[in-house]
Amino acid sequence: LNNGLVLTPPMGWLAWERFRCNIDCENDPENCISERLFMTMAKRIAEDGFKEAGYEYIIIDDCWMTTKRDKDRRLQSDPERFPHGIKYIADYVHSLGLKMGIYQDIGTKTCIGYPGSEGFEKIDVDTFAEWEVDYLKLDGCFKDSALFDRDYPMVGKHLNNTGRKIVYSCSWPAYQVEKKMMVNWTGIRENCNLWRNYGDIQDSYESITDIIQWYAINQDMLIPIAGPGAWNDPDMLIIGNYGLSLVQAKSQMALWAIMAAPLMMSNDLRNLRPEFKEILLNRDIIEVDQDAMGIQGRQILSAMRGFGIEVWRRPVLPVKDVGNETWASFAVVVWNRRVDGTPFYFPQRLGFYGLTHANGYYVKELFTKKDYGLMKADDELPLYVEPSGGVVMFKATLAVADGSVDA
Ligand code: DGJ
Repeated sequence: LNNGLVLTPPMGWLAWERFRCNIDCENDPENCISERLFMTMAKRIAEDGFKEAGYEYIIIDDCWMTTKRDKDRRLQSDPERFPHGIKYIADYVHSLGLKMGIYQDIGTKTCIGYPGSEGFEKIDVDTFAEWEVDYLKLDGCFKDSALFDRDYPMVGKHLNNTGRKIVYSCSWPAYQVEKKMMVNWTGIRENCNLWRNYGDIQDSYESITDIIQWYAINQDMLIPIAGPGAWNDPDMLIIGNYGLSLVQAKSQMALWAIMAAPLMMSNDLRNLRPEFKEILLNRDIIEVDQDAMGIQGRQILSAMRGFGIEVWRRPVLPVKDVGNETWASFAVVVWNRRVDGTPFYFPQRLGFYGLTHANGYYVKELFTKKDYGLMKADDELPLYVEPSGGVVMFKATLAVADGSVDA
């Protein structure tokens, strides 16, 4: 959507995957969906280095409302869990230099069963603008998905008419893909800033591999529709939760960056182990994700053909024009899906990855920071990739003729 927003994939924190619909503030006051949870997470984002790294949006998901609209048919936040209302949280979030996001559903109910927007689209969007919300995640439960092609754009128009700059996150394709319907991808990219394509992420490595697999299978359809202001959304980062080992957490971060994915953490920032935090704050990888060209990367070797080794590649800056050709730099991920217990030796020439420009490339690993210096197509990169989801991620920065790097 060409509204000047999210020219690089949005980054932030989203409640759903980790905190779900926990509304039991009496027994679980620290973890229930409440004002306290969002203000605490906003503070952690601002104070623990996440804001500096680019994480910006604090997003409420399902289960923030009361079960009934007010007398003016407006949505209301649960008075017990959100005693000061949403605007109060938005003000706090803004005071920290961050942005506020909220959740609603385009159908008659949210997925959990709170009041949906159908028939109240304009009132709801105006309410969010009044609360100074900066981001709307609009889910697609309880509605005939055939009507999405009409109604997601309609809500988008209402958003635009508020005059407030609001990022528009759609679940438009996700439900249509699930039902194996035809998907109007062009319409989606013209009307939404980002969109969920596929099922919900769960707290497991299987869930991540399943999502990545779907993106690989459908990459020829998905890559052309992504770009500045319009992003495929493979769902939240689950790094720091219960389900991923350290190497698997690295693989999510690396592959999300290759896919130009939104980086929305859904985790408990109050007790994040330092090794997971380090992954989430890896500046080199965030830089790949946020590359200004906004070209989504692709799988160039499948695990099937690679005997359990999968390779992904994304063009990034700097680029160089030679005649009518453009040569890019690349971020590359080598992902080991084997489970045979020992780091796999994967020695390949740079040319194997399609890195063939005669000037060569400066090659640096982005987790270990190992620097290989200037390499040419025939030079071999001797990688060891850890099993059970380990990754090596490197950036190959295109060199200029004299072997130096453009600023
Ligand atoms: C389905 C969405 O895909 C999830 O991300 C989450 O928003 C839930 N609905 C909430 O009910």
